[in-house]
Amino acid sequence: MSEDRVKLYRGLREVYIDRTNSSFINGKEGKLYYRGYNIDDLAVNCSFEEVIYLIMKGALPTLKQLDQFVSELRSNMTIPEPVLDIIKTIKNAHPMDVLRTAISALSAFDDDVNDNSAEATLRKGTRLTAQAPTIVTAHARIRDGLEPITPDPELSLAANFLYMLFGEKPDPRDVALIDKDFVLHAEHGLNASSFGARVAASTQADLHCAVTTGVAVLKGPSHGGAAESVMTMSQEIGSVDNAEKYVKDTLSSGGRIMGFGHRVYKAVDPRSLHLQDDLKELGERKGEPKWYSILQSVVEVMKPYSRKGINQNVDFFSGAMYFLLNIPEDLFISIFAIGRVPGWTAQVLEQFENNILLRPRLKYVGDLDREFIKIEDR
Ligand code: ACO
Repeated sequence: MSEDRVKLYRGLREVYIDRTNSSFINGKEGKLYYRGYNIDDLAVNCSFEEVIYLIMKGALPTLKQLDQFVSELRSNMTIPEPVLDIIKTIKNAHPMDVLRTAISALSAFDDDVNDNSAEATLRKGTRLTAQAPTIVTAHARIRDGLEPITPDPELSLAANFLYMLFGEKPDPRDVALIDKDFVLHAEHGLNASSFGARVAASTQADLHCAVTTGVAVLKGPSHGGAAESVMTMSQEIGSVDNAEKYVKDTLSSGGRIMGFGHRVYKAVDPRSLHLQDDLKELGERKGEPKWYSILQSVVEVMKPYSRKGINQNVDFFSGAMYFLLNIPEDLFISIFAIGRVPGWTAQVLEQFENNILLRPRLKYVGDLDREFIKIEDR
């Protein structure tokens, strides 16, 4: 076909590039499935560890299998001293840049680095899932002039995240919120960061390359960065009375309401409904119901946009929840990233299993056959 007549799929909107068993998004009805299980069942019944097993290995574990898997995760949480040194050297960078750099650096200490077999990729995915909370929390403490805290092998990943961040054994109710948050972020079809991870894997680069790419792509405000922007927006709104004016002014000046809209969901993102309930409960418990009320007012004002398929997404309530847990705002995307490592791993495993180089094309619209003039004559 001549280049003039090629059809462009800008943004790869509605383009299917392969088959998957990992997750399914029913965007019209607002449903999400991991490995065939409805997120509503998983979010209220499963720990993050159970969901990691499901996503990476394809089936829910038995109690014995979960027990072994939890031991494997917990024994892999520490990070090598030279990687801690790198974190110290770049401590002033954004937490996502530190996470990306540390994951990349971990490849130098991983015995399986060059082995792209399914077994080795699973081992590496398990290690990276366990190490990600340690990197994020070690950096958060180092930049505050504090010593990083060694992970506690008796605690879950969610509990360890809070423990290593604050240095105290966390409230089990806070742990349950973070655990569910990780579950809700664990896997999500061919989102931009998973696509990035798959492109890396399609060249037969290894899992560390793919996860490094995933973290890099997740950082942008159109993807994982929205939770932080939603919290900024809530602070700017300041009170329920101001929500309507804020939303209308933002939209009329061509701006976007952060935490709203999604490429695939045209109904409400089911993950946001879980976080909505959690935020309400947390706000009441902390004596700060204001943030939930402000966000609910935004939802009300945005109701007419629902007809256009613009509804609240996973990032809409999560930011306020992290804020109420006293988590610094620039760590919000990193929490998303910690949750997503199992999803990136599962998608890389799928890519390797039936690999094809991901290499689309661009339609050339520039000049051709331009007269070449040597540099000394230009
Ligand atoms: N506020 C107001 N209008 C919106 C919003 C929003 N948040 N999102 C989309 N729209 C409008 C657009 O202006 C556009 O309108 P038009 O057709 O009249 O021009 C229409 O909806 C379609 O928008 P696109 O940008 O073409 O949709 P796309 O699928 O490319 O974008 C995206 C999806 C990037 C998520 C977008 O909705 C957005 O920018 N949202 C805000 C940022 C955000 O919350 N990101 C997190 C996404 S979820 C995640 O990654 C975990």
